[in-house]
This record gives sequence, C-alpha cells and structure tokens, in this order.
Amino acid sequence: MLKTNFLGMELPNPVMIAAGPWNRDGQRIKESLEAGAGAVVTESIISDTMLDVRPRIASDSLGAENIRMYSDIQIEGWEREMEIAKSAGGIVIASISGQTPSELAYMASKMERFGADAIELSVSNPAAESLEVVASHADTLYDMTKEVVSSVKIPVTVKLSQNTTNISKVAKAVKAAGGSGVTAINTVRGILGVDLETAEPSLSTYGGISGEYIRPLGLASVATIAQTVDIPICGVGGISCAQHALEYIMLGSSAVQVGTEVMLNGKESIRKIVQELEIWVQDHNVNNLSEIRGKALENLKAYDEMKFEPAIIHANGVPCSENCDKCIRACMYQAISRKGRSIRIEREKCTGCGLCASVCPAKKLKLDL
Ligand SMILES: Cc1cc2nc3c(=O)[nH]c(=O)nc-3n(C[C@H](O)[C@H](O)[C@H](O)COP(=O)(O)O)c2cc1C
Ligand code: SF4
Ligand code: SF4
Repeated sequence: MLKTNFLGMELPNPVMIAAGPWNRDGQRIKESLEAGAGAVVTESIISDTMLDVRPRIASDSLGAENIRMYSDIQIEGWEREMEIAKSAGGIVIASISGQTPSELAYMASKMERFGADAIELSVSNPAAESLEVVASHADTLYDMTKEVVSSVKIPVTVKLSQNTTNISKVAKAVKAAGGSGVTAINTVRGILGVDLETAEPSLSTYGGISGEYIRPLGLASVATIAQTVDIPICGVGGISCAQHALEYIMLGSSAVQVGTEVMLNGKESIRKIVQELEIWVQDHNVNNLSEIRGKALENLKAYDEMKFEPAIIHANGVPCSENCDKCIRACMYQAISRKGRSIRIEREKCTGCGLCASVCPAKKLKLDL
C-alpha cells in the first residue's frame, strides 16, 4: 500500500532519509536502509574534502542549526562506501555538491559508476553558499542540471532552497534542463538564538535551520511547485511523524525525506513513521498514496479567489476546558466572553478571523462559512 514510484524508481515506502552526516558512509547508509527507509540520500559529496568547523551543530526543542557541510570522504573513497551501502539492497541516491556544471557532471558519472540509483544535486546549502544560494539562480541551475543529466543515465533530482524569491522559477529551470524531479527544501539560513550571559550566538556563523521551525516553509514550497510545475517532488523539512509526511503528500509530494528527527531521535523514527503511515492508509481505505497526492491543493486557493463574505464563529455544546480563556484572550475584536463552563459570542462583533477556533483546546469553535 505504501509502494511509491519516485523518479521512475520503485520505493517500498515514501519515507526516505535525507542527506546529512547520519548517512556519512556505507555502514551508516546500510543502517538507514535496514531501519526501513524507502530510500537513502548520502551526505553531500564534494571533490575536495575539507576540515569541519567546530562546533557546527546546535539544537533546541523545535529543531536544529548546522554549519556542518560535506562528506569527509573523497569521491574515490565512495566506490567502497557504495559497495557497503548497497550490500543489503535498497535504493541509494548520491548527493553531490560542486561549483561548476562540469565538476558536477564528473562527480555524477563517478557516483553512477559506483552504483548510485539516482543523483541529488545539493545546490542550496545556506551555510556554505552564504546569501547567494545557487538554487536562487535559475540560469546557473539550468546549466548545472543540464550537464549532469547529459552525463548520466540515472535520474537526477535537484534540491531546492526556500531562500529564493521564486521557487517555481527554479523548479521550471530544473524541468527544462531535463531534471527528473526536485527535492524541497534544504535548511533555511538562520540563527537559533543568543546566550545572553556570554553574548554568543548559537553557532559562530550563520547556519541552516532544520526541524519543526521549517516545516511550514517546506510545505508552502512543495505546494507552490506542485501548483506551477509538472515535476515529481520530494518534500523535506520538519517531518517527525506520519501526519507531517501526509501533509507533504497531500500538498503534492510523491515522497518525503527525514533529517533532524533521525539526527535527534535515531533511525528507529523511520520505522515508527512508516508504521503510522500503514495504519493511516488502512484506516482511510487508501490503496495507494497517489490517491491522496495533491488532494489538499484543491483547497489551496490564490489570494484573489478567497471569499470576502462574512463568516461567523459557532460554539458547539462541548463544555469549556477548566480555567481556559484562550479564545477570549485571542479575540482581538472582543467578541467572546465567558458564561460559566461555556462562552458567549457576540455575532455583531465577530469578524470571522478564525483565530479562536485554532487556539481552542476543546475543539469547541468552528467557523460557519
Ligand atoms: C546536521 C545536518 C547536516 C546536513 N547535511 C546536508 C548535506 O550534506 N547535504 C544536503 O543536501 N542537506 C543536508 N542537510 C539538510 C537536510 O538534508 C534537510 O534538507 C534539512 O535538514 C530539512 O529537513 P529536516 O527538518 O527533516 O532536517 C543537513 C541537515 C542537518 C541538520
Ligand atoms: S472568529 Fe475572530 S473575531 Fe470572531 S470570535 Fe473568533 S477570534 Fe473573535
Ligand atoms: S478556547 Fe475553547 S475551551 Fe477555552 S474558553 Fe474558549 S471555547 Fe472554551
């Protein structure tokens, strides 16, 4: 039921493990596949390895920031790593990063020879590429993708960044260059916080933010691409359970990738997400995930198409949670007041903004559209 076709490859399930140090060598990739991942993306490989900065990863309860960049194994060393990675079967996608189309093409053809099932071009690292991520330049991306596509027979996907003004333009460039798909999104340039006592930012340079923080950005990026370009999409950013994976799928993803959740809670999380997905599809009589792919896009309108007629909030008979005045505090139009274990709504004051319904822990409120 979870079998998924992505880039022409048959994945046992749509949950892949994203590029990162948790897939830094053959053994780690093998473990990722054994944990039940539908496919695995290697940590990004570059032609000239470099020393890692320290420290390079910080995290808090909502996600992480990293300035860890690339694989520390030379591309030649990946021949052996791919052998180990593929020894138990499974799909391995090689993530490569480079400066020029010819460098990327050279690396892609090497990784194809070493057994990679597909190539993911990582051209959207906010830490390495600073303010000008390559993935914001449609022309450069077109040239890179085209040269890589013409140098290999395996599918090529391009990992896009949310740090761009028009993600649909770059996704179109990937398609025009012959790319088989896109992956969205990479981490987003940010700073997790500042220690007030030492005046030190979370890391000593700008990093890439991942986890919960970026899921809304990833979802919007996937939806935008799905609504504007006909190309397979792999959604990534802030996925830690089946609900999140399904949100990406309903907004147009064919498959998804998980990174930070695996980094913080281990690869068993993948098995958990896959099991939750199995239960969900059974409960909802879904025979194949393609049946629900993009389903939420039908309800995602352009701003111009939105209704301006009044919508009034209604309360059902469920008693209010004890000591809860959340909706009363949240209503900026002073339309709600308390009435014992329930509330009173002044219809003439309610402007239908909808906020109270989303803060109510008792699910007591609903907009009457
Ligand atoms: C520590 C760390 C290292 C990463 N390394 C890479 C990398 O080598 N190549 C790449 O394309 N993305 C890399 N990423 C980005 C992830 O693959 C993923 O796109 C991003 O973290 C968002 O997904 P998540 O919220 O599930 O982590 C890295 C992320 C983290 C947290
Ligand atoms: S919908 Fe908005 S305006 Fe109406 S009661 Fe709720 S919070 Fe107030
Ligand atoms: S938020 Fe919900 S539970 Fe809380 S007071 Fe309002 S209606 Fe009652």
